[in-house]
Amino acid sequence: MATLKPIDLSGLNDERLASSVRAQIAEACEKNGFFQVINHGVPVELTDKLREVGRKFFDLPTDEKLVYAGKPVIGAEGYGSRMVLTDAEPKFWREFVELHTLPLSQRHYNYWPQQPAEFRETVEKYTAALLDLAHRLLAVISENLGLRPTYLQEALGETQQNIVFQCYPPCPEPGKTLGLPAHSDIGGITILMQEGDGLQVAARNDTWELVPNYPNAFVVNLADQIEMITNGRYKSANHRAIVNSDRTRRSYVTFYHPAKDQKIFPAPELVDAKVGPLYRELFYIEYLQALAAGRFGDKRLVQSFANNPQIS
Ligand code: OGA
Ligand code: NI
Repeated sequence: MATLKPIDLSGLNDERLASSVRAQIAEACEKNGFFQVINHGVPVELTDKLREVGRKFFDLPTDEKLVYAGKPVIGAEGYGSRMVLTDAEPKFWREFVELHTLPLSQRHYNYWPQQPAEFRETVEKYTAALLDLAHRLLAVISENLGLRPTYLQEALGETQQNIVFQCYPPCPEPGKTLGLPAHSDIGGITILMQEGDGLQVAARNDTWELVPNYPNAFVVNLADQIEMITNGRYKSANHRAIVNSDRTRRSYVTFYHPAKDQKIFPAPELVDAKVGPLYRELFYIEYLQALAAGRFGDKRLVQSFANNPQIS
């Protein structure tokens, strides 16, 4: 998948290169909603530090990690682990820490590790930098669609930003499970930093393609609400994480979700007057409820909000 070659964002600040960089982002969004970026403006000291505090936390003894244990429900904050090597579905082989970072009122510090000591400060700095990056990307993506630069940011409303530290330990039988089962991300845009290979994206021909790990790169993927707001111009892609038998893989995933009461609807500029909107209007909370109910069978969840049954 050629578009997973990293796109050099520094070109956006250079008049001679900016239009080519924008075109590369547009092509990646059209093709698979997945791309990688380098020279993204997030300082390397900060990305290094985030990985360091993540690794130090996961290396703590289990009882010290369990101090931050979350409730066993979708999207719960805190520490958790789920290792499945039986035939049961869904398959997981991971430890994780999930934290709400925005809005500020949603920071529940009782779930934020106090060890290592720099954990909290590092997450605050890192997620602030990633919010800025998300806004810059959303502006380029909006303009690529002929929308005003702030369109997608406004359409997603007040940001609910979460960070998930994922840790996939070595697995004795990697072929029998998955780090994270196939899914598309549900919110607006996801920015992931990985250490080691293991992330795969579904290609159009139904095969899994590895998203190669490049130093200092972020993997960016468009999520379901962007698919609906762009009226299906940009689809959210299915992806998953696989595991291996010899080393721990970690990833650091920053999600940018709409607020629960945000109304999501296709941008009128992208709706064909004759055909009408391809997706129906909804409040984001309805999407979360449909996800929790889990009744979408083999379809992608976003299809249950399509006006047009042809959407695939
Ligand atoms: C996710 C995700 C992949 C990975 O957290 O939604 O897709 O490689 N993670 O950890
Ligand atoms: Ni994901």
